[in-house]
Amino acid sequence: MRQTLVIIKPDAVNRCIAGKVIQRFEEKGLQIKAMKMELLQPYVLKEHYAHLKDKKFFEGLISYMASIPSMLMILEGKDAVKVVRKMVGSTQGRDAEPGTIRGDYSVSNQSNIVHASENEEAAKEEIKRFFKKEEIYEYKKMDFDWIYSRDETYMKK
Ligand code: TYD
Repeated sequence: MRQTLVIIKPDAVNRCIAGKVIQRFEEKGLQIKAMKMELLQPYVLKEHYAHLKDKKFFEGLISYMASIPSMLMILEGKDAVKVVRKMVGSTQGRDAEPGTIRGDYSVSNQSNIVHASENEEAAKEEIKRFFKKEEIYEYKKMDFDWIYSRDETYMKK
């Protein structure tokens, strides 16, 4: 099983569609291992978006992300990083495919509803950045045996 970090961004919280976004992940079969609401501080956001620090939109991005609380989640499943990125869609909401979260709810390249870790390495780093160990829960979901086949369940990854 793999884990990935999702941030439901201020625009989604403000537009009252956070529940719809969470529902999509639940319905797909991903397991929520951790979830909280938090007003993200500029210093953490600057670390999180360090790869964009030379971009013109950097300061605007930080102040938008720090404007009202976000909802943060750790999702777990087989190939969770890839699965979630695919569900989220491309950065620019206007280009994102219908059926993806951004494609269905966003027409912006900043107010684009969610952040999802880009790859396995980023996921590990981001989970550590935003969650303490004791905020992450180990539990077996009732429907687990129906979400994956037996063969998949016994394979480690
Ligand atoms: P990036 O890591 O390129 O994309 P993604 O979120 O799809 O992994 O960009 C991070 C965030 O930066 C993006 O979700 C929104 C913001 N952003 C802007 O504010 N303006 C822009 O022109 C772009 C390209 C991104």
